[in-house]
Parts: sequence; C-alpha cells; structure tokens
Amino acid sequence: MKKKWQHLLRFLPLVALMALLSACGKEGVSALKPMGDEAHEEAKLMILSIAIMVIVVLVVGIIFTYVVIKFRKRKNQEEYIPRQVEGSAVLEVIWTVIPIILLAILAVPTVAKTFSVSDTTSKSVKKDALVINVTANQFWWEFEYPDQKIVTGEEVVIPKGQDVIFKLTSKDTTHAFWVPALGGKVDVNPGQTTQLKLEADKEGTYSGRCAELCGASHALMYFNVKAVSKADFKSWVSEMKAGPSDPTSVSAKQGQELFKNNCMSCHAVGNKDAGIAPNLTNFADRQNIAGFLDHNKKNLEKWIWDPQAEKPGATMPKRGANNNLSKDQIQQIADYLFTLSVKQ
Ligand code: CUA
Repeated sequence: MKKKWQHLLRFLPLVALMALLSACGKEGVSALKPMGDEAHEEAKLMILSIAIMVIVVLVVGIIFTYVVIKFRKRKNQEEYIPRQVEGSAVLEVIWTVIPIILLAILAVPTVAKTFSVSDTTSKSVKKDALVINVTANQFWWEFEYPDQKIVTGEEVVIPKGQDVIFKLTSKDTTHAFWVPALGGKVDVNPGQTTQLKLEADKEGTYSGRCAELCGASHALMYFNVKAVSKADFKSWVSEMKAGPSDPTSVSAKQGQELFKNNCMSCHAVGNKDAGIAPNLTNFADRQNIAGFLDHNKKNLEKWIWDPQAEKPGATMPKRGANNNLSKDQIQQIADYLFTLSVKQ
C-alpha cells in the first residue's frame, strides 16, 4: 500500500505549473499589475469579465448540485423518472435574456475602451501629449520623436504622468505593439499607421513585446519602455541631441574607427533615422542588447560575432562567424559601443 505522503506526489505537476506561471508575473510585465491610466482601465475590464464568469459558474453550480441531490435515486427505489417538462416558454426566455444582458455588460465598456485607447484626438488626451513614431522591423523597434528630432531603438524613454501617443507602422510584416503593464496592444501593419495612447504612473522600466507572430524571432522581439521624471526626460532629450562624447581609451578609439568602416552603412550614432538598423546613440544606457540579451560586453561580442545564432532571422550580417572581423576587433567595437552614453 502506498504511504499517505506518496499520494501528495500527484500534486507535483500542479505545483510545478503554479511555480512556472508565477514567473509570468515578473515586475513590469503583467497586465494584472497595471502601471498607467490605460492599463488601470483595462485591468478593470478583466476584473469585470472575471466577476461575471464567477457569478455564472456559481449559479450554474448551485442549481446543478441542488438538482443532483434532489432528484437522485433513493435506496430501495425501484425506478424513478421525475416529471418530464418540455417547452417552457418562461424558462427559454430567461436563459436567452440573461446571457444577452451579461454580454452587453461586457461588450459596451470593452468596445468603448477599444476605441478610446486609439483615439488620440479626443479631449481626453492631454495637450502636452508626447508623440513617438514607432517603426516595427523583423525583429526590432525604432522610436522616433518627431518634435524633439531624436531617434532611438529597442528602448523608448518617456516622461511619467504624461500621455504618450504612439504612431505605429511596419517596414515588413504585421507586428503588434504591447506593453502589458501600461496597456495596449495594437497591430502594427505595413502601409498603415495605427495609434495607441499610453501613460505611466511611476518611473521604472516596463517590458514590451511583439504580440503578433511575425517570423522566426517573434518571441525575441522585446523592447523596453523607460519612464523617467519630466525633468529627467527634458535633459535626456538635450543629451540625446548633443550625442555621446568621443571615446578616450585606445581600444574604444580603434573600435570607433572599425565601427565607422564596418557598421555605419546600417547603424547610426546621432540624430539620424538609421532606418536599416537600430540607432545606437545611447546604446550604453540601454538595459538589453538587441532588445532581449543581458546588457554586458560578453553578450555584445557574441551578438556581433553571429547575430543569427542569438536571434534567428536577424538581418544583421555575421561579423565574426564569416571571418569579416577578428575577435580583437569585435572586442574593440564592443568597447566603443559601451562608451555610447548620454547620461551626465
Ligand atoms: Cu514582431 Cu512578432
């Protein structure tokens, strides 16, 4: 016979699943931990739909239990068939009308919210709203600030407590822009501009995702949204315009030369719209390489050596794996890129 505790082993997969799912609640990535106006509204909709579902399950469960107990076959009872009822107009009206009412309670605020989050012209959008043009590419994001005339990639900096209007388009296929903690998401299509209004309550970094299957590295098409105070945002903009200062170390200087000769046909440093590849003006200040790798030199060297090994389908050519650059040269380029900071 099995010992008592051995029966508990049956719950192991459940515990493992719970542990796995709890990781989904990582800070700054959960739609259930809203961090902005839009996200709060969307969380309310989720709670509303969960509440309605709980009520339905409870009511059905109670009626079901009552019927099972009341009409069960009793001891010594030969055969028992309860009175058969069919075609009750009253009941049919009730179970048609109730779902209609429940669906209306869900549909009306959901549809209203869907339109308001992409309506960037209404009075609810504050006058000082910041506009950011977003271009999705396989598999990275470009962020252009048309009024500030600066460009960045993979990490977008926004002022907290201010409406941000994202105007989104795609260079290639359909992507979707989603920052779970701030609300969203919206499809990003080639030849079309979609809009999304978001706001962050607190300073911090919020993780963004591409939410539309777009190719081999769809699952790695991350980006970061960094919310800073309004004052910090202002100084960040002027520092971005000024650009990073020139490198001082010998290795980084050599790296800068190599970068000019090998990388600048696609990448840009400064206020240019790089277009083909991410603008790297503030590369050293970012929190991830290529949107998802931990931000350290080792990963950067690995990335430059063979980008496709890290992000299948990435369009950046292999720099080391095809004998284009030596390990030392790649190290020098990495040294240079880690000087690209606009922090004071
Ligand atoms: Cu871009 Cu999925």
